[in-house]
Amino acid sequence: MNKLKIAVQKSGRLNEDSMNILKAIGISIDNGKDQLKASARNFPLEVFYLRNGDIPQYLRDGVVDCAIIGENVLIEKGNDLPIVERLGFSKCRVSIAVPKSSTAKSLKDLEGKRIATSYPNTVNQFLDKAGIKANLHIINGSVEIAPNIGLADAVCDIVSSGSTLFKNGLKEIEKLLTSEAVLATSPKISTENQAIIDKIQFRLQSVLKGRQ
Ligand code: PRP
Ligand code: MG
Repeated sequence: MNKLKIAVQKSGRLNEDSMNILKAIGISIDNGKDQLKASARNFPLEVFYLRNGDIPQYLRDGVVDCAIIGENVLIEKGNDLPIVERLGFSKCRVSIAVPKSSTAKSLKDLEGKRIATSYPNTVNQFLDKAGIKANLHIINGSVEIAPNIGLADAVCDIVSSGSTLFKNGLKEIEKLLTSEAVLATSPKISTENQAIIDKIQFRLQSVLKGRQ
């Protein structure tokens, strides 16, 4: 039987919310945390647990048909990919932060400075717009430690509760963008699978309406 392939975050904050929304639309998944792939019991759906940053390329290549993913990841790596539904959870912002003692008050004060981030394309886009030249240090995780170890003057990362910034003695000086989980599709999706997506989208819309 033909099945729709959906990618969700393998581990991390988006994972739980993603599995919850699938459950909320009546799709039960036969476990999966340790498996990289799981099938739905009552719906033509196969779930692939992937690293966030890899998902845009899988969508582009048509390896998966759709994904529940943070909009921030699409802005960084997949702004060519269609978003079909905004899901209203996993809300966060992508912000610039500096040590509490820093005199920098906005992106404009970062000329010639070192910025540590996992979102180089996003940061570059905003630096270009502001006409600022800075040096990016690309790190894949624990970005907020960078100023404390002398690696950077500022960071650009996801802020949700603000707790990571606080714990690392950083203050947010500029919000670049806000983000939430979205349902994105592959440009290569088949007509058959598009029909399954349409069903999912219909269910999502009624669940999301109920959550408002
Ligand atoms: C994410 C993100 C921030 C933090 C923001 O990191 O990179 O560091 O969460 O959340 P908060 O504002 O609620 O503290 P995560 O814990 O996922 O780990 P990683 O950076 O090592 O991937
Ligand atoms: Mg982090």
